Amino acid sequence: MSFPEKAVVLGAGGFVGRELIRLIVLHPNLQVEAALSKSQAGNSIGEIYPEVQGFLGGSFLSPDRFEWSQLSRGKWILFSALSHGETMQVLPSILEEIGENDAMVIDLSGDFRLACRETYQRYYGIKHTRPDWLEKFVYGLPEFNRKKIQGSRFVSNPGCFATAAQLALLPLVDLEKEPLFVAIDAKTGSSGAGIQPRLTTHHPLRANDFRAYKPLEHQHLPEIEQMWNQLGGSSLTSISFVSQMAPLVRGIFVSTHVFFSEPPSEDHLVKCFQDAYAESPFVRLVPESPSLTEVWGTNRCDLSIHVRGGKVLICSAIDNLIKGAAGQAIQNSNLMAGWPEISGLQVPPPRPV
Ligand SMILES: NC(=O)c1ccc[n+]([C@@H]2O[C@H](COP(=O)([O-])OP(=O)(O)OC[C@H]3O[C@@H](n4cnc5c(N)ncnc54)[C@H](OP(=O)(O)O)[C@@H]3O)[C@@H](O)[C@H]2O)c1
Repeated sequence: MSFPEKAVVLGAGGFVGRELIRLIVLHPNLQVEAALSKSQAGNSIGEIYPEVQGFLGGSFLSPDRFEWSQLSRGKWILFSALSHGETMQVLPSILEEIGENDAMVIDLSGDFRLACRETYQRYYGIKHTRPDWLEKFVYGLPEFNRKKIQGSRFVSNPGCFATAAQLALLPLVDLEKEPLFVAIDAKTGSSGAGIQPRLTTHHPLRANDFRAYKPLEHQHLPEIEQMWNQLGGSSLTSISFVSQMAPLVRGIFVSTHVFFSEPPSEDHLVKCFQDAYAESPFVRLVPESPSLTEVWGTNRCDLSIHVRGGKVLICSAIDNLIKGAAGQAIQNSNLMAGWPEISGLQVPPPRPV
């Protein structure tokens, strides 16, 4: 394999695109070849993103002016960080235009995560216009899909809530006694809503508030159910999910309550999680509770396990923009390219914050 690989970031003007650029400039094997953005086209990257001054020069380029045929030559990785809906309009057409090639693609939107187009329409509220591309994408949750990701050229990065929830839930598929009911209680910071301020998500309007949104019908629920089923989780297990807006900028904290007819012992549960994550460098079991400040700016997911009086609770914390988005995409690119899984991602959190 030739090094370094050239990285193209599509949707470079959004929050996830911004974090992708910051992480790529730190990566030993990747370099930003193009930062594509309609909203920032022509602007200097270093002026818009001062954090990468000294690491990266040049300007944002409009995707319409990029010579996409370059991707049919050499080693490229395309990170697509467009919004859902827009992605299925744009990405397949670009890839069809390029034709057969060795480029690797990691999509961070929700458009290619769900195998079933009807489920997509039900939860995203729009018709899937490119169902012919659904089968091409492998679901990019490395801790549970590492082998498939390693052999893939098209990876669909998981949703941020779905990442934190699945890392708390999926080890339970290996238990002899399946859970009856799982209640996922998830809180996120405002950066999860993207760069465009809206009346419900604009930070000043939610900074001192706390509320649920899309209760029991958030689009990350079918993503979690899909993976639970694929890994052999019981079809009798009922999973409910409620997303909430926390007064934070970054971070996701998830409390997953699991109800069993006969709960496992804490020792058994801890062993089950230790086994599940023995080969996973970014997942840590912590005592008491995960803390957002321990995961901010990192690709970590911290988990704590609690069993008391027959009740089971698993807490998980991630940085939504890193393990929930850009960091996980880099982790996937490492697996796809055959580099160490941790390349470019070994950063401790800053303290204090
Ligand atoms: N924020 C998170 O915590 C998070 C976590 C996991 C996954 N995601 C997913 O990652 C993707 C990017 O998220 P984000 O938070 O970066 O969102 P964002 O800040 O809203 O950025 C999305 C980017 O998509 C492009 N875009 C949006 N509408 C467009 C349109 N009508 N036409 C053309 N381009 C359009 C813009 O790119 P340009 O102007 O640069 O061209 C925009 O910067 C989304 O699909 C999101 O669901 C986000």
